[in-house]
Amino acid sequence: MENQSKDRGSFSKLGFILAAAGSSIGLGNLWKFPYLTGSNGGGVFVIVYLVIIATIGFTCMLGEMAIGKYTKLNPIGAYGKIAEKWKFVGVLGVLVPFLIVTYYNIIGGWIMKYIVESLLGHLPAIAGDSANFFTAHITASTSPIVYTLIFVIINAVIIQAGVNEGIERASKILMPLLFVLLLIVAFRSVTLPGAVEGIKFYLQPDFSKLSFNTVTAALGQCFFSLSLGMGAMITYGSYLPDNSHIEQDAVLVPLLDTFAALLAGFAILPAVFAFGFEPSAGPGLIFITLPAVFDAMPFGTLWATVFFFLVLFAAITSSVSLVENPTAWLIDSYGMDRKKAAWIVCIVAFLIAIPESLSMGVWSGITFPPMGLNIFDEIGYIAESLLMPAAGFFMCIVIGWVWGIDNFAKAVTNNGEYEFKSKKYFEIMVKYVAPAAIFFIWLNSSGILSIFS
Ligand code: PFF
Repeated sequence: MENQSKDRGSFSKLGFILAAAGSSIGLGNLWKFPYLTGSNGGGVFVIVYLVIIATIGFTCMLGEMAIGKYTKLNPIGAYGKIAEKWKFVGVLGVLVPFLIVTYYNIIGGWIMKYIVESLLGHLPAIAGDSANFFTAHITASTSPIVYTLIFVIINAVIIQAGVNEGIERASKILMPLLFVLLLIVAFRSVTLPGAVEGIKFYLQPDFSKLSFNTVTAALGQCFFSLSLGMGAMITYGSYLPDNSHIEQDAVLVPLLDTFAALLAGFAILPAVFAFGFEPSAGPGLIFITLPAVFDAMPFGTLWATVFFFLVLFAAITSSVSLVENPTAWLIDSYGMDRKKAAWIVCIVAFLIAIPESLSMGVWSGITFPPMGLNIFDEIGYIAESLLMPAAGFFMCIVIGWVWGIDNFAKAVTNNGEYEFKSKKYFEIMVKYVAPAAIFFIWLNSSGILSIFS
């Protein structure tokens, strides 16, 4: 039975914005965005990404926030309330974040390892052989799992404290700190001698590098970075009072998220160019390239420590929101108390993280369907490439064609209390543009077509 138990909690206005921004700003901005920009042609990727954020990103963000605010339930309960037959979309909203958090925690653990190593003054040694250091760490059998466990415990402690005392409070401290640190590192990076080439690569689009892959990567990044297609914003929206102005929030949160991603690009890419590294290093960019970059800077250890702390803060406020989805579902559906629910989710996620982490080392030979990847990559593929866009697509269909724009508008405006300024734009986006674009890109990027050919 879905109820609205007293253990649910609620956000203040500022608390909601910071928590929603905290959910969106994470490894996606500081780790993925710079390396995706680096490997997808620089400025042209940035432009495509901005267009997708303003169209599909805004639409799905407002859609999720409104569903949450109106129903005051977790994603499964929420879809059950607005469109009973479409409850499976809500199931994705609980399942996908759970799948993602299993490996997000592992990456959070890697970040903690780099903080510890920087604090111990080991940066120069790492920088000398950074690729081997990184590989040796992630393929080891115990150390990454221990760091993952520490990261998981931090999450559980914040979530069990509740929506106000835990999530809101952590976000209010960590988010402003994150922006200050990010500004400092970005300023340092763009003022390095030789940074100009990196700034050009980043800001001057070269349209000859535009390809279908650029668009696919940008769409996936939009969903991941804005925490869309997995119910996170439904759950956070469900802690909002009815009279909240979510139309503004749905603009502000993507703006903050995009600002953070752009700043992360400024923090990383000019420094990479200034020291003669390759921007297209891929996922290893912050773990392999950056230590070498920091080491070559004056006070490198200090910069490295500040940077990895910054990434850690961002990762925590995001993983908390991933864990919060299944936690809210256990509270709403089974009347479980928050503390118990949070620990159950965290422990099960940790147990799944163990084989995922080992699959980069001793178990790397074991592969799984459908793509024949190791379990770490396979779960990532299923969650991010298959299910996340699918959830976004179905959400647009439910809002545009089942629940209906008029009901949706009532939810956004609290029954006409405010004007829904972007109603026409939203309607065109949610009914036609967003689902068509997501479907087309999903078909091509999911590898589904290759099964039939
Ligand atoms: N948006 C987060 C990031 O950019 O790292 C990741 C994330 C958090 C995705 C929460 C989904 C979510 F529900």
